[in-house]
Amino acid sequence: MRVSKPQGNCQLSINVLDNLEDAVVAFDQQEKVTLINPMGQNFLGFSEKQAIGASLEKVVRKQETLLYLVRTSLSETRSIADHENIVLHTTGLPPRPVSATVSPLYSPEGKLEGTVLMMHDLTRVRELEEAIQRADRLSMLGTLAAGLAHEIKNPLGGIKGAAQLLAMELGENPDLQEYPQVMVREVERVNTIIEELLNLGNPRSLERVPVNLSQILNDIVLLQQEAVHDREVRFQLHLDPSIPPIVGDPDLLTQLFLNLIKNAGEAIDQHGQIEITTRVSSESHRNKPSSRPQPMIRVEISDNGKGISAEEQERIFTPFYTTKRGGSGLGMAICQKIVSDHDGLLKVESQPGQGTQVTVALPLST
Ligand SMILES: Nc1ncnc2c1ncn2[C@@H]1O[C@H](COP(=O)(O)OP(=O)(O)OP(=O)(O)O)[C@@H](O)[C@H]1O
Ligand SMILES: [Mg+2]
Repeated sequence: MRVSKPQGNCQLSINVLDNLEDAVVAFDQQEKVTLINPMGQNFLGFSEKQAIGASLEKVVRKQETLLYLVRTSLSETRSIADHENIVLHTTGLPPRPVSATVSPLYSPEGKLEGTVLMMHDLTRVRELEEAIQRADRLSMLGTLAAGLAHEIKNPLGGIKGAAQLLAMELGENPDLQEYPQVMVREVERVNTIIEELLNLGNPRSLERVPVNLSQILNDIVLLQQEAVHDREVRFQLHLDPSIPPIVGDPDLLTQLFLNLIKNAGEAIDQHGQIEITTRVSSESHRNKPSSRPQPMIRVEISDNGKGISAEEQERIFTPFYTTKRGGSGLGMAICQKIVSDHDGLLKVESQPGQGTQVTVALPLST
């Protein structure tokens, strides 16, 4: 005997809608809301009670593209979508990119009842696209720089050799000895920069061994406490003891976190605080568009230093962009490269005058 279970199916549909990470909002032909799931309430900033029966214009406010999509779907009885151009503004939340699809809604008898709007949050996708673009730009720049670096290294060797000879010729004359010494030192500095540039361009083969992140971070903080002792900088570590070792290159990961923690220290003027937090991300991220989601370790480095303006944020990954006297401007570019080489994601959020939070997400296993 066939048993029909309308009750169960109905409950199941409600459960599915309630747990969906996408927003679902249905409208009748008079443009009034007939259904809104919890994510829809979050996206539009209205409770279910406020939204049901409210007009399209009230719930989507002045978001012209959404108005256009819903109205076109209703008037032309067809599906319509926009996956590129919508940035959703919800009161009290930062704007977020979304994709929207609107499709006609029919009753089981085939009668047109209205239309249903579905929205999907694209924040993570956009972050991923940006990270990939940055990595691409960097490897192109690195390849160019590598060619140039080869040409520069030879004459530099010549200059250094000549300066050393000069120092010998000058003997013990203390007045003049200083000059060749400065030359040698500066040549060595240029050499270091070139080495770093070459590393950016050449895909270096990674060592892949189990790495204890807590230990690396503890060691770096010990060192950096020394480096900032002329100011009042407090370090706060919240390291999750349950984090298992991750697979990666210990030297490169040390360089990564050293660069980031150094930047945090340098952003603080007289007194401030640097907070370092590690945890296993409850969400699974896709670190490459084609790969399966997997758990990630998140390391957050927050400072309450001078912060980075929106225009500056666009440039901090560009090699040689620096706002510091004596800075090389390669730190963040190197960090981006190390994180990409570990299939991770790097994110910078900042409020000028309030501070900066840098998040590194690394896959738990590779
Ligand atoms: N935590 C931060 N707070 C404020 N500004 C930052 C922070 N991190 C990076 N920046 C900005 O980004 C710029 C580029 O950083 P990057 O680490 O690439 O180079 P740098 O620190 O200037 O030089 P280097 O790393 O060679 O010492 C910095 O000059 C600074 O303006
Ligand atoms: Mg730096």
